[in-house]
Amino acid sequence: MKISVIGSGYVGLVTGACLAEIGHEVVCTDNDAEKIKILEAGGMPIYEPGLEKVIPKVHKEGRLSFRSNPADAVTFGEAIFICVGTPPLPNGDADLSAIDHVARLIATEARSPKLVVEKSTVPAQTGQELKRALSVYGRKTGVTFRVASNPEFLREGTALGDFLHPDRIVVGVEDEIAEQQLKEIYRPVLERKFKCPVHASGCLDGPAPAWVVTTINSAELIKHASNSFLALKISYANMVADLAERLGADIGEVTRAMGLDPRIGPSFLSAGLGFGGFCLPKDLQAFVHLAERSGVDFSLLREAEKINKKRIDHFFEKMRGALWVVRGKQIGVLGLAFKPNTDDIRFSPAIELVNRLISEGARVCAFDPEAMDRARAILPEIQYAKTAYEAAQDAEALLIATEWPEFGKLDWERIRNAMARPLILDGRNLLSASKMKAEGFEYRSFGRQD
Ligand code: UGA
Repeated sequence: MKISVIGSGYVGLVTGACLAEIGHEVVCTDNDAEKIKILEAGGMPIYEPGLEKVIPKVHKEGRLSFRSNPADAVTFGEAIFICVGTPPLPNGDADLSAIDHVARLIATEARSPKLVVEKSTVPAQTGQELKRALSVYGRKTGVTFRVASNPEFLREGTALGDFLHPDRIVVGVEDEIAEQQLKEIYRPVLERKFKCPVHASGCLDGPAPAWVVTTINSAELIKHASNSFLALKISYANMVADLAERLGADIGEVTRAMGLDPRIGPSFLSAGLGFGGFCLPKDLQAFVHLAERSGVDFSLLREAEKINKKRIDHFFEKMRGALWVVRGKQIGVLGLAFKPNTDDIRFSPAIELVNRLISEGARVCAFDPEAMDRARAILPEIQYAKTAYEAAQDAEALLIATEWPEFGKLDWERIRNAMARPLILDGRNLLSASKMKAEGFEYRSFGRQD
């Protein structure tokens, strides 16, 4: 099928690349002309593992192309996926102006029937507004629009695998035709009939994804409710970690056993600096606002947000406990991205941590395998190291702010010799406390006996 993707950020590029990979003819567009120029020249505007292989491949095979004029993309696709950003407004609501803009564009430029698929995370009932905008602004052309909600559940860092091997595909539709069109789009994924560009073999043997057909309102709610629940789970684990610390327990042991209960599940119970990124914090906030506006008191989620905001304070208490005075001290920071395997620093707890260190008068030298270019643009005042070892040089404390797997495999003797004082504060519980002690470090982490 001919598909257009409007918005070429993380979600749009992954969606476009994967839809082309499974056999569709795809056009991606963005109002940021620079981004399209980079893509056309064979470059990658973001770091997402695997994308650098899939995009050039499907581009060369002629199934994926880029347009700097979004109107061309509207003309091209039978289905149009809206993947524009919905950033938070100062009051916490989602800013839907980009969606509104795209709706007007589609309404005025379309000359043939279109299936308009809302992929961006939006508050429930946005689909109804989208439908209204399409009919109001498109009234002169007489074109038929079908609106559907197809929330994405992909995680940065594993986005391609998540798209191609989802647990479920949720489609919120208003009629059978829209459902059938979406089924046609996802058929290769549903039937697992494609050559996986991510895994060597065996990935198509598992159970097929669930095909979940709902109303548009429900589909929108599913996305917000899922992300908010994940946030809730993390905050819960963080509170249990604080308690474990005081009661002489070990959070790793506690959550491992909790997770063996299938009603709880093992994921999203890792304690540490808390959740960040462009999705969980903003979706949680927007969900709380949506509940408020709908007359539902969802204070449970406010608590989850509050707990998350206090994680950095708690980490600082630990640091002060070990360092006494922070001002004037040389601190090494490992990790700047909001989680491993991405260069994304939006709402990253690691960035917030560095900002706090600067405001408290510390001298910071940071290292991240992928996120340093982005970090330099917003944090020009710190030093950036070429390696983790350089970040540790002369440091009085080394902070682990993002759990990149490579930080678990460092040469600790080299790190210890480079540091002014062998103190590690592990904000992500990446390392083993007993191993670090055996390596001669003073080691502090969350929810464990240091
Ligand atoms: C999240 C959801 O997991 C996806 O399902 C969803 O599609 C996506 O948002 C979205 O709405 O687009 P993502 O933001 O890429 O995905 O990252 P997550 O893997 O969810 O991690 C979010 C944050 O939680 C990170 O800062 C991570 O370090 C933190 N986290 C995660 C924890 O602190 N503890 C955990 O146990 C798990």
